[in-house]
Amino acid sequence: MPADQLALLRHERVDHRFKALPPDAVGLTVGELAAERLNLFTGGFTTPVLALSAESVEHNLGLLQTFSERHGLSFAPHGKTSMAPQLFARQLEHGAWGITVAVPHQARVARAHGVQRIFLANEVVDSAALCWLADELADPDFTFICYVDSVRGVELMHEALTKAGAARPLQVVIELGAGEGARTGARTEAECAAVADAVAAASTLRLVGVAGYEGEVPDADPDNVRAWLRRMIALAVDFDRAGRFAGTGEIVISAGGSAWFDAVADVFAQIPELSRPVLKLLRSGAYVSHDDGHYRHLTPFNRVPDEGALQPAFRLWAQVVSRPTAEQAFINAGKRDAAYDLDLPEAQVVRDSRTGAIRPADGITISGLSDQHGWVRTTEEARLEVGDWIGMGLSHPCTAFDKWQLIPLVEADGTVSDYIRTFF
Ligand SMILES: Cc1ncc(COP(=O)(O)O)c(C=O)c1O
Repeated sequence: MPADQLALLRHERVDHRFKALPPDAVGLTVGELAAERLNLFTGGFTTPVLALSAESVEHNLGLLQTFSERHGLSFAPHGKTSMAPQLFARQLEHGAWGITVAVPHQARVARAHGVQRIFLANEVVDSAALCWLADELADPDFTFICYVDSVRGVELMHEALTKAGAARPLQVVIELGAGEGARTGARTEAECAAVADAVAAASTLRLVGVAGYEGEVPDADPDNVRAWLRRMIALAVDFDRAGRFAGTGEIVISAGGSAWFDAVADVFAQIPELSRPVLKLLRSGAYVSHDDGHYRHLTPFNRVPDEGALQPAFRLWAQVVSRPTAEQAFINAGKRDAAYDLDLPEAQVVRDSRTGAIRPADGITISGLSDQHGWVRTTEEARLEVGDWIGMGLSHPCTAFDKWQLIPLVEADGTVSDYIRTFF
């Protein structure tokens, strides 16, 4: 049934719900439209249109698989980045242990599309969600692990799971906060121990490990990120010595977004032998599309170039709809279409509306975004006229995916080979 659900995505009808898809494709299924192998520029797509590079996604999937394997890490890519079950499936095909999510709704999306191992990197204290999880735990092949970081959270989980009559204990890891002023996570080892005591007293829960997110280490640098990761390992070692993992066959230690997986690999390589096998779980998510801003600067591959390089996979195409002055132009993509929480889009290329030729976007800068407009600044020598398309790189994958529900997957020559459905 869940795997069928993935196949069902190809049977969904294309219509006005999906931005940018060709108006004359209405009524076709996604599978039928993909089989047409339309060209992104001449196939009838309306602008703005977000394109995801087929080759770059494939490259990125392969690169993190290789990285994880080389460093002895298991991988649960963060699914909140794309919320695209087709990409989850490809991540699993590329050796991922499971999929990470942030909230119960995301777990439901993954579960509905056949994901059998889910790591939810948050505390779940919502009784309706816990009731749903209790039902899901009736499936003996379903693995679910989530954070706990407070005694009150444990209490709420225990109450809801007891009421729901969960068939087996829900597996939890203690979240260690990434330092003073960081995000979630118990701040001290003593607080972690108090939470672990509460878990031990709750028959509906089972402690299986420790976790955290080094991406939230305040003023992160290679030294303090490594220091915090070592602190998390020391907590796992102490807990193990104290017999706190007696109820599990495998100890889970998890960290790692897309900014510090080199540090995670180094420090996790030093985990001493524990009483049980250790599942070292990396959770990078943004790597799948990478980007042309935030992650271009932060990627660990800048520090370890010998291990490869991710490729930015998004290009947002928008059309010039107004050219009121020699210095100004406006495109028909705005905040509804582009990621803008960390950086503005980067104008990279122009597709000439007269000839179809693509040239570098010399002298062209995106200077602002309104809801439905992009503000473009041009230098005197920049050639740009109404009707031209501007191809832009984006910064921050998570807030690019969430603006598009069906994203053309485009090959280097412009052929659209598939469509990626997202569920936000
Ligand atoms: C807890 C947690 N784990 C993993 C990740 C994935 O990190 P990235 O988006 O850098 O790949 C995030 C991202 O916010 C996160 O919050």
